[in-house]
Amino acid sequence: MTSERYQFFDQNPKLPNVVDEIKQGLRATPKRISPKYFYDAHGSVLFDQITQLPEYYLTRTEISILDENKEKLSHIIDESCCLIEYGSGSSRKVRALINAINPRYYVPVDISREHLNQSARSIHDDFDKLHVYPTCADYTQGVELPDVIDGAPRCGFFPGSSIGNFEREDALRFLSSIGTDIGPGGYCIIGFDSRKSRAIVEPAYNDAQGVTASFNLNLLNHLNETIGTDFDQSKFEHRAFYDESRGRIEMHLVSKTAQTVSLDGETFDLTRNESIHTENSYKYSLTEVRELARRSGMSFVTHWEDSQAWFYVVLLRVPESTALSHN
Ligand code: AVI
Repeated sequence: MTSERYQFFDQNPKLPNVVDEIKQGLRATPKRISPKYFYDAHGSVLFDQITQLPEYYLTRTEISILDENKEKLSHIIDESCCLIEYGSGSSRKVRALINAINPRYYVPVDISREHLNQSARSIHDDFDKLHVYPTCADYTQGVELPDVIDGAPRCGFFPGSSIGNFEREDALRFLSSIGTDIGPGGYCIIGFDSRKSRAIVEPAYNDAQGVTASFNLNLLNHLNETIGTDFDQSKFEHRAFYDESRGRIEMHLVSKTAQTVSLDGETFDLTRNESIHTENSYKYSLTEVRELARRSGMSFVTHWEDSQAWFYVVLLRVPESTALSHN
């Protein structure tokens, strides 16, 4: 479908050489596999379930903060703006924001072409004045925004504490690249999970129903199906713990027994209790958020939080006339 209000932009993002990447991770000490492999069709359903779990406070807390503060946001962010959502997925959270800000353009950016097209079409159908320009790209590698939005003020949107899945220095690089995308005077709304007590954060990744465990273990099935590894899910268990000094949840798949897995003619030995590190989920203090913003060249405009300060929705802005720094 192409209408005046809908155009699909495809940057043909380069897909990683998955076999090489997984082999490298399994050769390393400690072994690791990137969290991006959680998200096959089943993994995405499991992640949706996670967001509704009683222990997983992040999603509902962020949605309630956005909802409570949408009036204020709508006074700050220009109606003529272009809202750019990084890693838009099913574009669920952005609907409330579109309703509040009433932007002229919406550019959802995602690597998953079909999913992006579907959810962008549904946004196009539901908001009858909005121009929707889905852009298929790997946002971690930089995005070329469509020319059609040239001249419009820009507002980036990166919700869900997805920034927490970057290493801290990578988060800085990513924030700097958002700054380049939105340009001088541009705003950016980002969701950060706060540093808090282990008693709250650990159960969010060790839920009683075992959905997070299934989500973590599903990564093995995903790789079996896509690249032909021969992982036996039943020989691994989920482990997630909070490293308070680093302010991060670590997720691991721990081998229950000594075993060998193979991929493409190469074998990898695991000892009993050896782990494959699958995800880090960083939590941020407000001081850390301010420091991150400063180093990325953006100014910290304001933030909103829930009554327990479990989650921060942060509004940053690229100064009108200052060049972005990258240190
Ligand atoms: C997507 N991301 C922000 C989630 C998180 O909390 O780090 C992924 C997740 N991993 C386990 N549960 C949820």
